[in-house]
Amino acid sequence: MLKIVNVAGARPNFVKIAPVVTELRKHPSVIATRLVHTGQHYDDSMSESFFRDLEIPEPDVHLNVGSGTHAQQTAEIMKRFEPVVTDERPDYVLVVGDVNSTVACALTAAKLGVGVIHVEAGLRSFDRTMPEEINRVLTDHMSDLLFVTEESGRVNLLKEGIEAEKIHLVGNVMIDSLRRQLAVLGEPDTLPRFGLQPQGYGLVTLHRPSNVDEPEVFKGILSALSKIAARLPLLFPIHPRTEARIAEWGFEKFFANSGLVRTAPLGYRDFLELMRKARIVLTDSGGIQEETTVLSVPCLTLRHNTERPSTIEVGTNHLVGTDPVKIGEEADRILDGKCKQGGLPPLWDGKAAGRIVKILLSHGKGI
Ligand code: UD1
Repeated sequence: MLKIVNVAGARPNFVKIAPVVTELRKHPSVIATRLVHTGQHYDDSMSESFFRDLEIPEPDVHLNVGSGTHAQQTAEIMKRFEPVVTDERPDYVLVVGDVNSTVACALTAAKLGVGVIHVEAGLRSFDRTMPEEINRVLTDHMSDLLFVTEESGRVNLLKEGIEAEKIHLVGNVMIDSLRRQLAVLGEPDTLPRFGLQPQGYGLVTLHRPSNVDEPEVFKGILSALSKIAARLPLLFPIHPRTEARIAEWGFEKFFANSGLVRTAPLGYRDFLELMRKARIVLTDSGGIQEETTVLSVPCLTLRHNTERPSTIEVGTNHLVGTDPVKIGEEADRILDGKCKQGGLPPLWDGKAAGRIVKILLSHGKGI
């Protein structure tokens, strides 16, 4: 019996772990699967609603760590995860993505001599000021088996000296979730609830510290968004980090008498419905760059780099940075109908988790 402890902690993790756990649980006679929720995200809108929408089973263990500084959060996860690994004695700990829960649990397992599996390995923004970049690099170098979503991931890992035998290009588990949910979504009432028409609005998300924790940068982005909103209504579900900064700096004014409409963070299905019918998406999220590529929706990424180059080279993504003039020009171009068509990166077909489990079964305990 192969025993795997799976870890999820923050919103994007839930979308990635869902198909992995579903596939692992299809083999109960040979794989024992546990799910640990670190509690990095804990609000209903950031956590439970994703478990419901994605039909993720109740976690076997909840670490309830909550928020904190990077060191506090990472350390607290490690302290609380260590006894779980010691008690469970799994063959592997499987981590996804690049959040603090990812690196904390990988490090805990590696120090206990337990194998580490990283799903969504190899992505690099080459920007060490991003907390996620540090998490990615460290997690990859502690991992025994690395599953990558796009060719750039393999190239990056090989350049960093990671052995080729450990690396597998399997596609994108986030897209497994997307395709599965699209198949069962039907016609939810999300657009009528917000008074929106298909193609009659844009969708915005922002939560990167480099954008929302810097008042001048954030103000510039909000002024660009309110100008775009004079042309096309923009719906902006607001992440708790972003909400806190708006209140702190008195930026509510950008939403007053403007087509820029804010709302609480949304669940997976509501957000998917809004994304697939949007005329344009403006974001600093990693996952949304990928999802818009698969949905063929034009995406402007308000960052100076991306760790997901295939969304630009193949997909519908444009890297526009944070200059308000440039954001406005690029949005106008898209609203004038000058969008690229975009294609699909290889293996983003909804079957990535199946490939991962097949490889795990063929490796058995001997990674
Ligand atoms: C984390 C991830 C980021 C990911 C993002 C998705 C790291 C380093 N960052 O960033 O990669 O893109 O999640 O959301 O792991 N808060 C709540 N309720 C919650 C969770 C957080 O109110 O359920 C508030 C707290 O005030 C907290 C702040 O949001 O201090 C930030 O949360 P945190 O988990 O530290 O980072 P994120 O910005 O969410």
